[in-house]
Amino acid sequence: MKFFVDTANVDEISALIPSGLVDGVTTNPSLVMKSGRDFREVVGEICALVDGPVSAEVTGVESEQMIAEGTSLAKIADNVVVKLPLTWDGLVACKALTGEGIKTNVTLCFSANQALLAAKAGASFISPFIGRLDDINIDGMDLIREIRMIYDNYDFRTEILAASIRSANHVKDSAIAGADVATVPPSVLKGLAAHPLTDKGLQAFLDDWAKTGQNIL
Ligand code: E4P
Repeated sequence: MKFFVDTANVDEISALIPSGLVDGVTTNPSLVMKSGRDFREVVGEICALVDGPVSAEVTGVESEQMIAEGTSLAKIADNVVVKLPLTWDGLVACKALTGEGIKTNVTLCFSANQALLAAKAGASFISPFIGRLDDINIDGMDLIREIRMIYDNYDFRTEILAASIRSANHVKDSAIAGADVATVPPSVLKGLAAHPLTDKGLQAFLDDWAKTGQNIL
């Protein structure tokens, strides 16, 4: 499973790079607003930091505007992926941009039928929003399982990018359900390494080691 980081904060991304766990980045207009940065500038900086795909979202709602914005965003760097909402116009834009060789991430996906359409439109990634479904008492993980089954049935190459992830369990369950990618807030990514028994065991080893009076270096 690949990990994308769900943030437009360059400092947060930089801090995670040495782990080797950052396979890409996703942004959205709300995350850009939170960063307080100029959109094109921050996308350019993130693309220079990260080798993998960096999603940058259009804000037009009609296909022609989306295509124009997507074409312009794709020029920022080779690893830009144009993020499009899962609307009829978004699908039209997805088809057109894919035809131009531009990578796309179709976002705000809340049903398996929507995901089927995105794959048929040639999306590089589909972003089902797990957390927002859970918020309204619908099991977001069921959606990942359904999309996995449909894509496998028809051998669609569109990658399933589990989004709106709020917890370590979301990551684990997405991996079990066969998502290709999880996009995670930095805090959730770091939290995956944490376990109280690891901390307790490490402390016991360090205490015993101190009693030996030795140093490794
Ligand atoms: C990522 O592509 C999505 O925009 C993001 O995961 C949405 O997460 P949220 O539902 O926590 O805002």
